[in-house]
Amino acid sequence: MSEFIITTSPILHKALLNDLKHIDSACKIKKDFKEGRYLIAFSKNPEIIIKNIVQKRHFFLKHIHPVDYSGNLLNDLNKDVEMLQSCIDRIGLSPDNRFSIQVINIENQEYTAKDIEVQVGQYIEKKYAIEAYFNDYDLPDDINQQIINILIFGNNYFIGLGTARNNLCSVSDPYRIFSRWEMHICRSEFKLREALKVIDYHPIEAHTAIDLGASPGGWSYVLANKKMKVIAIDPAKLDAQVLEFKNVTHEKIRAENYSDSVKANLIVNDMNMEPIDSANAVLGISKNLKTGSLLIMTIKFTHGPYDKRIEETIEILSKQYSLIDIRCLFHNKQEVTAFFKKT
Ligand SMILES: C[S@@+](CC[C@H](N)C(=O)[O-])C[C@H]1O[C@@H](n2cnc3c(N)ncnc32)[C@H](O)[C@@H]1O
Repeated sequence: MSEFIITTSPILHKALLNDLKHIDSACKIKKDFKEGRYLIAFSKNPEIIIKNIVQKRHFFLKHIHPVDYSGNLLNDLNKDVEMLQSCIDRIGLSPDNRFSIQVINIENQEYTAKDIEVQVGQYIEKKYAIEAYFNDYDLPDDINQQIINILIFGNNYFIGLGTARNNLCSVSDPYRIFSRWEMHICRSEFKLREALKVIDYHPIEAHTAIDLGASPGGWSYVLANKKMKVIAIDPAKLDAQVLEFKNVTHEKIRAENYSDSVKANLIVNDMNMEPIDSANAVLGISKNLKTGSLLIMTIKFTHGPYDKRIEETIEILSKQYSLIDIRCLFHNKQEVTAFFKKT
């Protein structure tokens, strides 16, 4: 028997649960914390669950962490911190890897997530002399980092120890990080920046990117700002700040009508379109794409079954692309982000 808190997009939680049943047919949702976070009870032990989840990461799973202890809060900061500290003493941290504390507070007005992070963090540093890692500005890339996840939901707390690797993402609330990043055009900039981070892709100066469905221009801005040549394709307007870039060309047409044979190094596609049509539009454009070039594409869901929409997209693109990965990024709501390589 084990419990985990998972994060997904609310519309995808049923599809995710169906998939988790392949690991443990008895698994069920015990609590809905809202915002796409759920407490899931499994009948198998935590090691088996995590091993399976890390081995075959499900597309719709954004984040997962174990719940080692849970209970009621007293809504007195000092007393509650003491209670959480006694949980940590029982969990047993390793002295070999640095730690971070990630607290999410949902519907508790008595104190903030930061109050708990600071107090509990100082306690661990002092008592266990383990190096703390706190960074509100970037996603850490140390996969062995120990993470104490604490979820406060009203008067309840849920605490568990994981690692960045086993949690599938090094932070439980990337919004805290992304919201500190500067926004120039629109919020979807963060979606591309998260995608580039996940796939560890660094845009190269003077390389060419085709941006399908570019308006208002968030993604084009991100790539042009990294000095890529950007061909922004969208019948809708681009923001004036994007048009100011000398390295951005706006093709004010539908992607299906774009016929230039540019040898691009990257295609990004965020078109509001049925996945099958979107995939076909990509094929029409990528005949001259260099082998090994990356395609980053959002697969947008207007209707289920979502797994089927993904399968169909992969099938169509397989004529010219091989799949690298599919992720439900923190910035994906009714969609996933797929990464392909040109064959
Ligand atoms: C979600 S928005 C893209 C936002 C963009 N990634 C950004 O960062 O600003 C989707 C865009 O797809 C465009 N679109 C829809 N169908 C299209 C098509 N057939 N060809 C090109 N663009 C299309 C829409 O005009 C819309 O601007």
